[in-house]
Amino acid sequence: MKTDWTPSSWRNKPISQQPTYPDPTKVAHIEQQLHKNPPLVLIDEIKQLRQQLAKVSIGEAFLLQGGDCAESFAEFSADNVEATCKLILQMAVVLTFSGSCPIVKVARLAGQYAKPRSVDTETIDGIELPSYRGDIINDIEFNEQARIPDPNRLTQAYHQAAITLNLLRAFTKGGLGDLRQVHQWNMAFVKDSPLGERYQDLADRIDQSLNFMAACGVGVNRASIRETTLYTSHESLLLNFEETLTRQDHLTGKWYDCSAHMVWVGYRTQQLDQAHIEFVRGLHNPIGIKAGPTIEADDLLRLLETLNPNNDLGRMTIIVRMGADKIGDKLPPLIQAVEREGQQVIWSCDPMHGNTVKTNYGYKTRSFDRILAEVRDFFAIHDAAGTYPGGLHCEMTGQNVTECIGGAQAITEKGLAAKYITRCDPRLNAAQGLELSFLVSEFLKKSIRKRQSV
Ligand code: PEP
Ligand code: CO
Repeated sequence: MKTDWTPSSWRNKPISQQPTYPDPTKVAHIEQQLHKNPPLVLIDEIKQLRQQLAKVSIGEAFLLQGGDCAESFAEFSADNVEATCKLILQMAVVLTFSGSCPIVKVARLAGQYAKPRSVDTETIDGIELPSYRGDIINDIEFNEQARIPDPNRLTQAYHQAAITLNLLRAFTKGGLGDLRQVHQWNMAFVKDSPLGERYQDLADRIDQSLNFMAACGVGVNRASIRETTLYTSHESLLLNFEETLTRQDHLTGKWYDCSAHMVWVGYRTQQLDQAHIEFVRGLHNPIGIKAGPTIEADDLLRLLETLNPNNDLGRMTIIVRMGADKIGDKLPPLIQAVEREGQQVIWSCDPMHGNTVKTNYGYKTRSFDRILAEVRDFFAIHDAAGTYPGGLHCEMTGQNVTECIGGAQAITEKGLAAKYITRCDPRLNAAQGLELSFLVSEFLKKSIRKRQSV
């Protein structure tokens, strides 16, 4: 037990990326209210995810984490949640089938409302206003009133997260999560594309396998076929929100952030002696750390020692987000250092955040080719080092958006305007997500075969 830690000990440390609320008394009042509310996820579920991630750490499963860059209040609907849920299930089934490897599914949903920003203000036509920091903090509209941080948004985020979780649980436990529904996960607008057809093909083969098993008398009416589990995650950024949902396990005395099963610390808030690391240090959730191009091997080791002093399996996921042009230089020394120290981690690849560019038309975008290049290098580097490339972390949506360039639909710079609706970073659409999963499944299969042969 960490004796010098409490859910509020982060308040004594320097902190970055937080809003300044005009009325702190109101914030304190809302925090008190939220603290009385039920947790969003249960401690037992968090413990289960840790067990699942322990399997990923030792190469017996693969982690698929994905969803919105920033969930929005305005775009929230059952249809949108269902679409992203279906995409995660589709991608997972592609990876499972091809890699013959269990997939641990973690959504970036039901809490991904706060965003770190590179700059504090945004200027349009000579008018400078505070940056948009996610719907849990302020509004994306570009006017003075909208950009003032509003603590009522904490409550709205809590309620939206609860409803989202309710939908995810219902979808995954009640029908949609049934492997015998595998065809239904293919969305109408993807079905007639080459990717949709390729998926249809794979779904047919799964159907045949299930029918074959049933004919052989192997029960396919079991829970592992009929339902699945989708865990939730978000960046642990807005710490007063996270604190209100942090609860103690009465059996063990350990603390868990019950706002999500897994939380991660972003690239901009991972200073060792500051508030964000202080907060997650005392939690027993699985924790992710983004590893970007400026992190040194020693920094990473110190973070691991601080966050996982007992070197527990399933505790730490390193989410690598270097960029396609940097991963070749930056990742190998990190792997060497972690291996040398014998630290138990999951290496997961976020091929999104190091590959963001701005087009001539002003859109923030990512090219599918760069994304794929980073994933390919990630697998190749691990294969060369003899370590396990254990996960994929993507910003994606089940909606038919045009935010990333390329892929089988060949979305062009000009084509981005058709449906560019993200609140923050550009996401893969359903066809691009599916395409990526087919490509990754090839890398995964190769990597697993290679490990089995040594
Ligand atoms: C994110 O995952 O949305 C994000 C902001 O990532 P990073 O901290 O790696 O920039
Ligand atoms: Co993002």
